[in-house]
Amino acid sequence: MNDDVQKYIYGTLTIFITGVLVWVGFIFINACGFSLACKQGAAVVERTPIPTLFPATMPALEIESKPVLVSDKCQIAAADLIGAWVSANSPEEAAFQFVDVNGETCESTFAEVQPLFNESNLWHSGSLACVSCHSVDVSISPAQLDLSSYAGILAGSRRENAEAKKGTDILGEGTWGKSLLYEFLVVSKADIPGHTQSVSADSFVFVGKPFVESVSTQTPTATPKP
Ligand code: HEC
Repeated sequence: MNDDVQKYIYGTLTIFITGVLVWVGFIFINACGFSLACKQGAAVVERTPIPTLFPATMPALEIESKPVLVSDKCQIAAADLIGAWVSANSPEEAAFQFVDVNGETCESTFAEVQPLFNESNLWHSGSLACVSCHSVDVSISPAQLDLSSYAGILAGSRRENAEAKKGTDILGEGTWGKSLLYEFLVVSKADIPGHTQSVSADSFVFVGKPFVESVSTQTPTATPKP
């Protein structure tokens, strides 16, 4: 009985191994014949060798020698732009001039200054927008200061109510370095929320356009208000 089982097992194994050998042999002979130096067994070439290069006959493309402008706007630190606007006596419509980081004279208008008070993340990473605190409602705005509009900025801080057109001047009467705005922007104040970090030196903005003398002599600047 035991012998029989053994016989079956060995028999099956022998048949199986012979089968495998015959199968492999069949495939080999089928592909290569009776040779051992068979090309089909060689590794597949995955990259073709560099093809023959045709000599170039077309003329090389002329590359324009003009420098490519990344932006036609001027670059300046955000605080310096406000400073230039204040120093120009804070005009509402008229253009004011500033010198950008490349030493070029540029001009801008208040329309490009206002967004600096409206934007978050501008002064340093995570900074709140000035208007998120100093908003239009002076009854709740810290220091009763509204930075959300030209009129609000000019009216200044510590206003009794929204109708009060004049509070404390925050523009240093045109002297940027002496203004409250400069002080609260550039100097950090540890105990005042929203002012605990000073302006980061690399908060640059792209604004204005290079100032061209001939154009500006035609456009009136600084229209006096009656
Ligand atoms: C988190 C709220 C908050 C934010 C944001 C904030 N401020 Fe203030 N700001 C204050 C507080 C509080 C005071 C001090 C109020 C006081 O002394 O009564 C103050 C005071 C000031 C003052 C002085 C006014 C005065 O008469 O003393 C100026 C100017 C000012 N902020 C400008 C700004 C500008 C510009 C920004 C944006 C860069 C800004 N603030 C962002 C809360 C804020």
